[in-house]
Amino acid sequence: MKKPIIYITRKVPEDLIKPHEDKFDVRMWEKAEEPVPREVLMEETRLADGLLCMLSEKIDEELFLASPNLKVVSNLAVGYDNIDVEAAQEHQIVVTNTPDVLTETTADLGFALLMATARRVVEANDYIKNNKWKNWAPYLLAGADIHHKTIGIVGMGRIGEAVARRATGFGMSILYHNRTRKPDAERELGATYTSFDELLTEADFIVSVVPLTDETHKIFNEEAFAKMKDSAIFINISRGATVDEAALVQALQTKQIQAAGLDVFEQEPISAEHPLMKLDNVVCLPHIGSASTETRTEMIELCLDNISRVINGEVAKTPVSS
Ligand code: DGY
Repeated sequence: MKKPIIYITRKVPEDLIKPHEDKFDVRMWEKAEEPVPREVLMEETRLADGLLCMLSEKIDEELFLASPNLKVVSNLAVGYDNIDVEAAQEHQIVVTNTPDVLTETTADLGFALLMATARRVVEANDYIKNNKWKNWAPYLLAGADIHHKTIGIVGMGRIGEAVARRATGFGMSILYHNRTRKPDAERELGATYTSFDELLTEADFIVSVVPLTDETHKIFNEEAFAKMKDSAIFINISRGATVDEAALVQALQTKQIQAAGLDVFEQEPISAEHPLMKLDNVVCLPHIGSASTETRTEMIELCLDNISRVINGEVAKTPVSS
């Protein structure tokens, strides 16, 4: 009997696929760093029962209409704004993501970015490598303290809470804004719920961990940056489109805010020519929030497990709904 087909849109380690090869015909785009071209994705998914995709692929109605066997789309990310989940539901296709397994790793990166930005770690590293270090000086590359400051977390989901847990170790006061209040986080982490505006005006560090939706699209805009302290440091580990990048550039250039640490961008990959890349008070990373070897392996395993379950008529471990 013909085995069900799973298509994987990026080259992943063979040993993660092996356990599934007796039951499935696993096919894969052969490049690890280059995304699959749209026409190849369409062609390969046409016959597939399961699709393991990346956040860089647009998974939409056109693809569902062209893929009559498709039963499950498994996104290698916790965010799934690249997938038209409503259309998937109409076509009886299950969509899954990778929550939980990446929570701590992404929070680690968020905190690393916050610390690197506040203490100008990248600039300081370049300072030595560019042979600029001639003398020690009291205010040489002086940054901002982190300990005992106020962190404002926008989006108090699993990752937001994990960032807050790290902040408690630094003696920080924690403000959060979320669609719903989080009594557990308030009790266990001493986090205080505030309005979005209050968080913007009160926080020393504003961290975006909010999922990208119609409501959160460009919530960090000119008006939002104008409300922040001039010493504020803005960190984004959610999605680039939660930010109006032109407004952020303006806020950074005019020193309306002090600095920004960004792991995500409106357009990815962002060009080295982008105005954000020309600023000293910005630390930029190429969307590596969950990129530890251990976590990426767990994410791939979870995706394959979800696909295998759905094709076998079982309930997915981590389905999403619109
Ligand atoms: C996610 O999982 O949504 C992250 O952005 C990937 O690093």
